[in-house]
Amino acid sequence: MCGIVAYIGNKDPKPIIIGGLHRLEYRGYDSAGILVCNNSEYQLTKITGKVNALSKMLETKPNIAPHLGIGHTRWATHGIPNDKNAHPHYSNSGKLYMVHNGIIENYDSLKMELINRGYSFYSDTDSEVLVNLIEEIKVKENVKLHKAVQLALNQVVGAYGIVVCDTFNPKELIVARLGSPLAIGLGESSFYVGSDATPFLDHTRKVVYLEDNEMAVLSKNGKINIKNIISDEPIHPYIEELQWSLNSIQKGGYRHFMLKEIHEQPKAISDTLRGRLLVDKGTIQINSINEYKEKFLNAKRIVFVACGTSWHASLVGEYLFEYFIRIPVEVEYASEFRYRDPIIEKDDIVICISQSGETADTLAALKIAKEKGAFIYGICNVVGSSISRETHSGIYTHAGPEIGVASTKAFSTQITVLILIALKLAELKKTFDSRQLHDYQAELSQIPGKIEQLIKTSSSIDEIAKNYSDSQNCIYLGRGFNFPVALEGALKLKEISYIHAEGYPAAEMKHGPIALIDKNMPVVVIATKKTNYEKVVSNIQEIKSREGKIIAIVSEGDETVAKLANHVIEIPNVSECFTPILATIPLQLLSYQIAINRGCNVDQPRNLAKSVTVE
Ligand code: AGP
Repeated sequence: MCGIVAYIGNKDPKPIIIGGLHRLEYRGYDSAGILVCNNSEYQLTKITGKVNALSKMLETKPNIAPHLGIGHTRWATHGIPNDKNAHPHYSNSGKLYMVHNGIIENYDSLKMELINRGYSFYSDTDSEVLVNLIEEIKVKENVKLHKAVQLALNQVVGAYGIVVCDTFNPKELIVARLGSPLAIGLGESSFYVGSDATPFLDHTRKVVYLEDNEMAVLSKNGKINIKNIISDEPIHPYIEELQWSLNSIQKGGYRHFMLKEIHEQPKAISDTLRGRLLVDKGTIQINSINEYKEKFLNAKRIVFVACGTSWHASLVGEYLFEYFIRIPVEVEYASEFRYRDPIIEKDDIVICISQSGETADTLAALKIAKEKGAFIYGICNVVGSSISRETHSGIYTHAGPEIGVASTKAFSTQITVLILIALKLAELKKTFDSRQLHDYQAELSQIPGKIEQLIKTSSSIDEIAKNYSDSQNCIYLGRGFNFPVALEGALKLKEISYIHAEGYPAAEMKHGPIALIDKNMPVVVIATKKTNYEKVVSNIQEIKSREGKIIAIVSEGDETVAKLANHVIEIPNVSECFTPILATIPLQLLSYQIAINRGCNVDQPRNLAKSVTVE
C-alpha cells in the first residue's frame, strides 16, 4: 500500500514524480504529497485527495528549478487521510524529509522516547516518528545521513520502503527496504525510485530491485552504493532490463483499466499458455514442475495459501487438483494460516498464489510454512516480486500489469496456470490416460478464442445491469468448480459498486440464506451444464417461488433455465473444469457496468488498494 516515487538528477523532478504517482495510484489514493528541492530552496506540497489535486496545487507554486524530489500517494494506516498525515514527513529541524510505505510497529515507544528528548509531532503517523529518529541519531552520533538511516532502521520493528533526503544537503537520496518493495531506475547520471518500476518506464529500462534489509545511497553524481542494513556489507547492484511495454500500463482507449483488463483476458491467457501448452506434442512443459518432479509426485497434501481473489483461484485449484490428480488439498486464508501454528507435514507442498507477489499476509504465511520445512511453490504475476523470490520454485502467470484494483485477468490467468499444473501432474502421475489428457489440452488451447467470442457478444449485460444498479444486496450461487466463481462474482460487485453481495454454494441456500430471498433480491446463479446441473435448476426453482430475481449464467443453447430465469447470459460449452474461466467473465462485466451506472470509481474503489502490503 502507498506509492513512492523519487528522482535525483538533472531533469525537473516534478513531472516525473507526478506522472509516476499517477501510475502508482492503484496502491492508495487518499492523500498525496511531493517535496522538491535545489541547492538552496525546497518546496513541500501535500493535499488530501488524489494525485490530480496535488498536481493542480503544484501548478500554483513558483518553480524553484529543483533537481531532487520525493513523492507519495497514501493509503492511510496510522492517522486519518488529511493534509498533515499526508507524506512527505519532515523532522523537527525541518531539514530531513521522508516518504514511507509500510508500518513501524514500535512507533509508539520510539515516539515516547523522542518526546522525552524534546521532540514534538504534528501528525498522527508512524512515519513522522521514523524521520525524527533518523534526525536524533544523525545529530547525537554526528554521522552522515545514510549512517543515521541505517542505525535508525536497526531500531525499527515493522515494514518499510523509505526514501529520505536532507534539504540542507540535497546531494543524495537514501532508499531502504524491508517488506515494502522499492525499485531503482538507473538513468544518465540520475536515479528514479518507485514502489514498482512503472513510474520510470518511459525514462529508463535499467532497474535494480532492492532486497529486504538493503539500503542504497543514490548520489547526484550518478553513484549508487548498496549495503545490507544489518551486516553493513556492501552489495553489488544486480541490474535488470525491463521488458514491459508502455502500452501495458496505459488505458489504451478504454474508459477504465478494469475494462481494458477484462478485454485483455484472451491475450493474457494466451500469454499464460505460450510455451507451456504443447498440444502438438501432447504434453505440457512447466520447467519448475519438471525440476521438482519428485517433490510433486511424492506430495501427500497440497496447501494453498492466498488472500482475496487469489484465494478464490486457490479454491478452484482445490477442485482441479482433486479431479485431475486425486490429492488432498487444503485452501487457507493467509491471514489465518500465519497466526494459527499450522500443521505442516513432511511431503506437504504449500502453493502461494498472489497477483502482486507483495501481499503481506501471504508473504508472512509463506515464511512460516518455509520455516516449518514445507516445499513452497509460488504462482505470481509480478516478476521479481517478494513472494516470487521467497519461494523455492514457481510459475508466473504472465498476465501483464494489472492496474485496476479489482482483479480480473489475474484471476483467469491464475486458474489457467492451475489447469496447466493439474494437467501436467495428471500426465506425470498417470491419473488420466494420454488420449483424455490430449483432449483437455486441445480444449484448453481454444479457451482464449472462446473468451474473445464471449466478450464480443456480451452487450446484453449492460441491459441486465440497468435493472440492478439500485439494488442494496445481491446473492451469488454456484456449485462444484463454480462455487469459487460465485464468491469471486460477489467480491467483484461489492468492491467496486459497494452493493452488499455474498456468494454461497447453491445447496447451502436452504440452510439460511434463502430467508433473504424476496422480490427485491437479485440472485446470480451459475447454472452451466454437467454435474449438479439439475440440482442447481431446483435451487433456481426455489428462488423463483420466493420471487427472487434470477440472473443465470448458462451453457450455450440452454432452454430449461431460460424459462425460469429473469435473465440468462450464455457462455460457450466447455468441459466443466474450464467453466470457472468463462463464467467469471460475464460476472466481471456485470459488476463493472453496475458500478458505472452507480457512478463509482471502478479503478480506485473507496478504502481499497491494489497491493495490500500491511496486515
Ligand atoms: C480483488 O479484486 C482484490 N484486488 C484483492 O482481493 C486481491 O486479490 C487480494 O488483495 C490479494 O492480492 P494478491 O493477489 O496481489 O496477493
